Order: sequence, then C-alpha cells, then structure tokens
Amino acid sequence: MSLQYVKGPRADCSKYMDLNEGWIDRRIFWEKDIYEQELYQIFARCWLFVAHESQIPNSGDFLTTYMGEDNVIIVRQKDGSINGFLNSCPHRGNRVCFADTGNARRFVCNYHGWSFNTAGALQGVHEEYCYDEGDLDKQSCGLKQVAQIDSYKGLIFATFDEEAPSLDQYLGDFRWYLDMLLDNEEGGTELIGGCINSVIDANWKFGVENFVGDAYHAGWTHDSGARAMNNGEPFPPVDMNNSYHASINGHGWEFGMEGVGDIGLLGRPRVMEYYNDIRPKMAERLGEVRSKIFGSVASSSVFPNMSFLPGIHTIRTWLPKGPTQLELRTWVIVNKNMPAEIKDDITKGVMCTFGPGGSFEMDDGENWENCTKVNAGVIARHQKLHYRCGINRKIDNPDMPGTMYLGQYNDANQRLFYERWRDMMNSQSWSDIPDRYAQKLDGRETRDIHNIKVA
Ligand code: FES
Ligand SMILES: [Fe+2]
Repeated sequence: MSLQYVKGPRADCSKYMDLNEGWIDRRIFWEKDIYEQELYQIFARCWLFVAHESQIPNSGDFLTTYMGEDNVIIVRQKDGSINGFLNSCPHRGNRVCFADTGNARRFVCNYHGWSFNTAGALQGVHEEYCYDEGDLDKQSCGLKQVAQIDSYKGLIFATFDEEAPSLDQYLGDFRWYLDMLLDNEEGGTELIGGCINSVIDANWKFGVENFVGDAYHAGWTHDSGARAMNNGEPFPPVDMNNSYHASINGHGWEFGMEGVGDIGLLGRPRVMEYYNDIRPKMAERLGEVRSKIFGSVASSSVFPNMSFLPGIHTIRTWLPKGPTQLELRTWVIVNKNMPAEIKDDITKGVMCTFGPGGSFEMDDGENWENCTKVNAGVIARHQKLHYRCGINRKIDNPDMPGTMYLGQYNDANQRLFYERWRDMMNSQSWSDIPDRYAQKLDGRETRDIHNIKVA
C-alpha cells in the first residue's frame, strides 16, 4: 500500500547562490516552499543518521527518531540485523510507538488495536471478524519500511530512497575522517548516558553549516566560555598555514593539526593522559597524519544533518521541524575499551562544554535563532549573505582526501555544503547529482592510505 509521490525538483535552486562569487540568498533559511522541497529532495533521499549500534544491542531493542519530519522506529531484529519503518499505522496513521527507547515484542496501535511485530508486519487485528473476506490484505498492511538501512563502524544510517547509492559510496572518502572518531582504538565506540533533546527556533542548516566549517565564530561567540574553561585565557590563535577545510560531497571536516585543543577543552587532564598513552597505537592503526589530527580543534558534519566534535566526544543530529525550527539531539560518544573513569570524565567534560548547561552549547542557538528571524525581513531578505572567506585558498593536498582549503578560518566547507544542497535540490535522480570529488581511496579500505606524511 504505497502511493507514488512525484519526485524531482519543484524550483531551480541555482538562483539562491553564486558559490564562485561566494554569496547565498537568505530565503533558504525560512521560506516554506524551499523547506518542502528539502523534505522531498534531501530528507526523503539521503542517507540519514538514525542510531548508534550500542543503543539497541539486543533483539527487540528499539528507538524512535525522525527522518526529515517522518517519525521512524529503528529496531534490532531476532537475527541481529537492524530494521527501520515509519512509526505510523497504515489504518488511520496514528503512532504505533510513543516511547523514545525500549524493548518490545510488538507495537500496538492505540486507536483500533492493530499490532505489528518487530519486523513491522501486521500481526493482530482487534475484532478481526468485522472484516469480510477480501477487505483486508494483512500482507500489504505492514509498517512502511525504510528502503535501505546500513551501518558504518557503529553509526546506523537509513534512507527512504531505494535508488540511493550504497552507504559506503555515499560516505565515500569521508570514512577516512570518520575513522578518527569511530576507529581510533580497538573495540570501536559506544554512546553513553542517553540522549539530550533541545528545541531551537532556527533553520536546521544553521546548525549543520556551523559544524561543517565555522571555526571562525568560536573565538568570538565562545570567548567567555573558553576563558571559563581555561583559567581566563582565550582560545589560542589559529595557525592558518597548518589547518584545513576538507569537503567530500557536502560532508566536511575543519581541523587544526595540533592534536590536543579539543581534548584539552574538556578540562579533564586524565583524558589527555589517556590519549597521550594510546596515540602511538593510534598512529599504527590510522597512520601518523590522523593520529596528529585527532583531538585538534575541529568540527564536522555528515550531509545532510549529522554533526560532531571529534575531540570533545559529542555527536548530534539537527532534526528539521518546519523552516524555522530544529530539534537538536546530542549524545556522548566514547571508545568502548576506555576505562570507566575515563568515560566518566569525558561525560562530565561534555556536560560542562556542550551539554544543555555547558559553557558553549547555549551560545550558538541564540545566534542561529536571530539569523533565521532577521533573514525573513522584507528588506533583509533581498540582501545577499557573505560566504567568501578563503575563496582563493584552495590547495592540492596529496596526503588527505577531499576538496581541501588552507586555513581553518574559511567558508569553504560551508560553500561546498551548499553546493551539495543545490545539487540534491535540483536533481531528478541520483545520476544527475555530480560527484564533485573524485575518490582518492578508490574503493580501498580507508586504512590503506595511512602511511602518509603530515603536510
Ligand atoms: S489507526 Fe491504528 S488501528 Fe486504527
Ligand atoms: Fe559554536
């Protein structure tokens, strides 16, 4: 029982930006029609982060989240695999699950009592005798499944588009960067301490573009927080000749090479010692370059709406709630094999910095709320926004994958995020979407290119 919706662009979104000149139109941050187009063209097609494997370890473990504005249930199956489906009853559309997380053998709808097993199939129908033969084909009345679901080193992604490329292709060489967070030590990662939700009256893209590349705001917006965490000292100046923006098809990682800035920000000396101890092993595992990058002042986003601060150990997703509101969900991510006291130190460090009462978290939301609101003014909306920083600093760096720009203070990753956004918004099918970055890894294991030198 599925109805076809018309795929394809409604409006040409090229007019909203000139990335060679470095400007963006303010309407993309609040206009309803553009937002509707995003729900179809981006959120109904891209691979979206839905869960970490550690959140649903056992058969029947589930959580609910959103893909675009559609609520979905992600559930561990009896055979250990993971499935995802719409949290919406095919009868009248009610939710079949109201919990954020839990363990279930079935999901029962409150309205007329239809029940579904953990594979999403319709199992029980209350007072089934009311249906005549031929009225109800149970087989076709299961919960609508996601088209594809897959995981990369613990992170589970799903897409509603059966034509989307594989997750590995979608992430491409960005896995080289992701591995610094997900695979820097034997045993992989886990999320600990639950999920923190907050609602911000801002367009979802402001969160993502901030994390994909906006190192520039940190020294100003977060100055008081930095001083509070660092004995009154401000953030040290950025080394513009040894820091980078790297972008791969809209995913981006901006980073320094000093290796300790973000870990230090946690304010927990034991965590720093821990990483100093494991760094030689990390170098064997991931190579010299990445062992030096990990822990540096850095931030990152996976297109379209997942972000993280690798050295600060927070991961997050920016769920769209209309053009002018987002729901932020954040978690603490740690290495599974860390001793309990290091995990505990990291959790406290995250709460002091990027928790809801942390010294940095609250600084950003207010800025994004004002950007969203002010950009809608009838005069303001006709003024372009400036995205030109570092536009001529493109470099060729043979040691790292991605389209690279020199200098952490840069709008490069933001421009390339919006380029991907425009490509997705304008395309009829995946084959129309240009691969803007030719993979260096070329299908090899991401670890294969580890013996490269620091630039
Ligand atoms: S809406 Fe779910 S059983 Fe009727
Ligand atoms: Fe910030």
